[in-house]
Amino acid sequence: MLNKLMSASALLALSVGVLAADSPMQATADMSELMTRIIQPASDAVFYVSRTPPGDDAAWREMENMTLMLAESANLLLIPGYTQASEQWLRDTLLMRDAAVAAWEAAQARDLEVLMDLNGALYDSCESCHIATR
Ligand code: HEC
Repeated sequence: MLNKLMSASALLALSVGVLAADSPMQATADMSELMTRIIQPASDAVFYVSRTPPGDDAAWREMENMTLMLAESANLLLIPGYTQASEQWLRDTLLMRDAAVAAWEAAQARDLEVLMDLNGALYDSCESCHIATR
């Protein structure tokens, strides 16, 4: 796992320069907007799930939407314009993605317990990156 992470991060460092110059993937906004308009609202759905647990099918569908948005936004943290070429950045992004993918699966399984348990791991991924980069 660590080796995989290291080689992925070496690859990332190499490719950021190339990608940034000539990539079909381009950031639409800036980091602050990605955080406040997409990542924060999506993660709030998970952070506050015990306060307002989904009570019907429509609410669970909405939880699925939010957790999928969160999981895919981890990929956005790796595109030119948002990404930073460091091992720390990649590691924290993958922590966020792992927690978000697990939340997406829990939402599809309608598993409130698992969603609540994922709070800590998700929060840690945000904090770890913020402490290192802000
Ligand atoms: C891989 C790094 C990384 C991860 C993971 C990350 N963030 Fe951020 N976040 C940043 C950076 C960098 C900034 C500073 C952006 C700026 O102002 O330029 C930021 C800023 C923010 C802000 C303040 C934005 C503003 O302008 O007011 C919020 C809110 C935020 N993040 C929420 C979150 C939440 C919630 C999570 C986890 C679900 C998270 N972030 C995960 C890197 C990260």
